[in-house]
Amino acid sequence: MSGSRSAKDFFRPLAVGAPSPLTEIPARPSRAIHFFDPSNPKMAAKVPDLVSTVDVLLGNLEDAVKADNKLAAREGLVQIAQDTDFGPTQLWTRINSLDSPWVLDDLTTLVPAIGHKLDVIMVPKVQGAEDIHYVDRLLAQLEAKADLERPILVHAILETARGVANVEEICGASPRMQGISLGPADLAADRRMKTTRVGGGHPGYLVRQDPNPDQPAAVRQTYQQDLWHYTIARMVDACAMHGIYPYYGPFGDIADVTACEDQFRNAFLLGCVGTWSLHPKQIEIANRVFSPSVEDIAHARRVVAAMGDGTGAVMLDGKMEDDASLKQCLVMVELAEQLAA
Ligand code: GLV
Ligand code: MG
Repeated sequence: MSGSRSAKDFFRPLAVGAPSPLTEIPARPSRAIHFFDPSNPKMAAKVPDLVSTVDVLLGNLEDAVKADNKLAAREGLVQIAQDTDFGPTQLWTRINSLDSPWVLDDLTTLVPAIGHKLDVIMVPKVQGAEDIHYVDRLLAQLEAKADLERPILVHAILETARGVANVEEICGASPRMQGISLGPADLAADRRMKTTRVGGGHPGYLVRQDPNPDQPAAVRQTYQQDLWHYTIARMVDACAMHGIYPYYGPFGDIADVTACEDQFRNAFLLGCVGTWSLHPKQIEIANRVFSPSVEDIAHARRVVAAMGDGTGAVMLDGKMEDDASLKQCLVMVELAEQLAA
């Protein structure tokens, strides 16, 4: 990521609702955000091998890192960032939540030490715009003190009922906002949903086919529904409204690559640009699913060519294409070009 604005431009009174500098700071969509625990020597040792296989490597300091290891995780991340050439792969971190005793030390340690290498800070359990304002002001002070040349962007996790209710204001809370991820585990707990899975579907959440007089009730077909559809759709709308990126979150059943791919594909079709990866095998799934297919790109390019000046309607393979379907096709073409760049 590079941009003409310097971090000092962010040291300013808050201007909520100001135009997003993301139009000036290209923040590439990132198909997989691969999590690693910097306090785990085995995971840390694998980081150099993962560079260039994945769009984002994220050093996780929050949940899944034991309380006794918080300092080791923070120091481990500094060490890894200093020792690694990340090339085009972005480096992100997930800091501890704003109500934890660790978050202030996370920010005051990481920004001076490796702020020049950090692209995005992921903030968990964001409840409303005030949480983003707090991080925004703190980052502005720390960046100015460290004389950083570019601002660090902010990504929020949507994982409380209050956060979901406030998702539009969260997306627009700062020009630093890069995107939002679904946090299905914390969100399920906060809502008191009765699932113990991390992301994904649930066999009990279903609809049953209407009674068919010719068949006994027991053989009526059931269809599983998507527990996360409402939240993802709401998040996608809020992100689109503010010009930032929506992401699926964690899929915890590492062995179930089929269900993982299904969830990722649903999120892609609904508008998400990427997801989290908790295991290297999820990187491959995410890179594939969150890239438009060769067939989709070829079809989109055909429609663009057939539509000439972009107005009116044409028939292609018996289907009507017009100004609106052209826009749908341009989404595919633009994404393919961004990912190829
Ligand atoms: C992620 O942080 C989650 O809670 O699902
Ligand atoms: Mg969480």
